[in-house]
Amino acid sequence: MRVSEKKTVIETKALTRIYSLGDSEVIGISSINLEIAARELVVLKGNSGSGKSTLLSLLSGLDRPTSGELKVAGHDLIKAPEEQLTRFRREVVGMVFQNFNLLPTLSVLENVCLPALLAGGWPEKIEPKAIDLLQWLGLGDRMAHQPAQLSGGEMQRTAIARALINDPAIILADEPTGNLDSRNGQLVIQLLAELHRTRERTVIIATHSNLADAFATMEICLKDGMITDTTCEV
Ligand SMILES: Nc1ncnc2c1ncn2[C@@H]1O[C@H](COP(=O)(O)OP(=O)(O)O)[C@@H](O)[C@H]1O
Ligand SMILES: [Mg+2]
Repeated sequence: MRVSEKKTVIETKALTRIYSLGDSEVIGISSINLEIAARELVVLKGNSGSGKSTLLSLLSGLDRPTSGELKVAGHDLIKAPEEQLTRFRREVVGMVFQNFNLLPTLSVLENVCLPALLAGGWPEKIEPKAIDLLQWLGLGDRMAHQPAQLSGGEMQRTAIARALINDPAIILADEPTGNLDSRNGQLVIQLLAELHRTRERTVIIATHSNLADAFATMEICLKDGMITDTTCEV
C-alpha cells in the first residue's frame, strides 16, 4: 500500500433505493458511487427530497437498497443477514437525528447507556463511560433529568453521547441542527468536528445549513437522488 493511500471505509457502487407506493415508484437515491476514506468529515448537501436521509439510512444499515453494492467498515451490507445488520447498527455506526429520538421515560444517563446494554455490555463498565461522555458534553449536572426537562441543544448533546457509547468508527448525523437555534446548532457542529479531529471518527453530516462547511474534508451534493458535480445550491 502506498503511504498516501487512505483506507476506504465506505464504498458504494450504483447504490439505488426505490420506494414502491402502490403502483407508483419513488426514487430515493439512484446509482450512487462513493468512496469515503476513514477519518473524513463529509458534508452531505441537497435540497429537501434530494435523498440525504435515504443515503444515511442505507449507510447505517437501517434500510436496505433496491440494488447496487454497499460496503461499510468491511461489512458487506447487501449480503449481511439481519442479525449481522443489527450488530453493525449497534457497534459500527452511531446515529444522530434531527428530532433527537431520545426515549422520554428514561433519564439522560439511561438513554446514553441503553445501546451498550443492548449490545450485551456490563452495567458497571457502561455507566462510568456514559458519565465521562456526558461530562465531556457539558451535561454532568443533567444526568438524572428526563429528556423533556432539557433544551433542544442539551437533548442533541445527549443523543451524541448515546451515539458514542459503543465507540462507533462512523458517526452519521441527519440534519442534527435542524431543530436547534443557531448558537446550539453551531455547538453541535463543533462537537461533531471535534469528534472527527480528536477522536478520529469518520463523520457524515447531512444538512441544509452551511454551519459545517468550514470543517468539511469532503462535500457530497445530491440532487433528485443523484450526486451532482455542480456547486451545491441549497
Ligand atoms: N419511506 C418512504 N416512502 C416513500 N418515499 C420516500 C420514503 N422516504 C423518502 N421517500 C422519497 O424519497 C426521496 C428522497 O427523500 P429523502 O431521502 O428523505 O430526502 P432528504 O433527506 O434529502 O430530504 C423523496 O422524494 C421522498 O419523498
Ligand atoms: Mg432528510
